[in-house]
Amino acid sequence: MQVLVVLAHPDDASFNHAIARTVCETLDANNHDVVFLDLYKEGFDPVLPAPELSRDAILDPVIERHCKILSDADGIVIVHPNWWGMPPAILAGWIDRVFRPGRAYRFVEGDKGEGVPEGLLRARVAIVLNTSNTEESRELEVFGDPLERIWKNCVCDLCGIPRFQRKMFRVIVTSTYEQRIDWLNETRGIISAFFPAG
Ligand SMILES: Cc1cc2nc3c(=O)[nH]c(=O)nc-3n(C[C@H](O)[C@H](O)[C@H](O)COP(=O)(O)O)c2cc1C
Repeated sequence: MQVLVVLAHPDDASFNHAIARTVCETLDANNHDVVFLDLYKEGFDPVLPAPELSRDAILDPVIERHCKILSDADGIVIVHPNWWGMPPAILAGWIDRVFRPGRAYRFVEGDKGEGVPEGLLRARVAIVLNTSNTEESRELEVFGDPLERIWKNCVCDLCGIPRFQRKMFRVIVTSTYEQRIDWLNETRGIISAFFPAG
């Protein structure tokens, strides 16, 4: 399978980078084709300009390339920290610019954009791996876990990806080395469960 792995974290020494490396290594060991996008490393511009709003816009070659990679993926793995209950802005902007109408979703004929769109992505599974510094009970009770709704409902369901799995690793700031090793082993397990050796 062709699997797209997207990382949004500015620090090479972060735990997010360790997770993304583990994801890519596991996919590789299981004989999948990995396309890895490190959004900070490639200096992805997350600001959607006005001319790109049109469904038929002529796209910047970088955006065209990312749209094609997304469309061609059989599976998608996203790795990012929880920043204010949201993905980092670089990743939110990547969704704005790359999950385009006509490529990731479309409205059925006669629908001006008010209806329920139809998902167009070929990916059959999406996995979102997050990190945070908030205990689960507080995340659920006080904040309502907005990342679950964003990724599962607003993005993946809408774009037609039927299987969705999300894991939040927490609490990073107080975690021990051993805990992080366990989390990386858990990451290997999740990835191999959804993308087994072929
Ligand atoms: C701009 C910013 C916003 C953050 N917002 C939250 C938040 O809303 N909830 C939370 O639990 N942690 C928040 N954090 C903490 C990060 O989630 C935490 O530093 C990260 O998950 C640790 O992983 P890392 O070592 O890979 O950076 C925030 C951190 C930054 C820099």
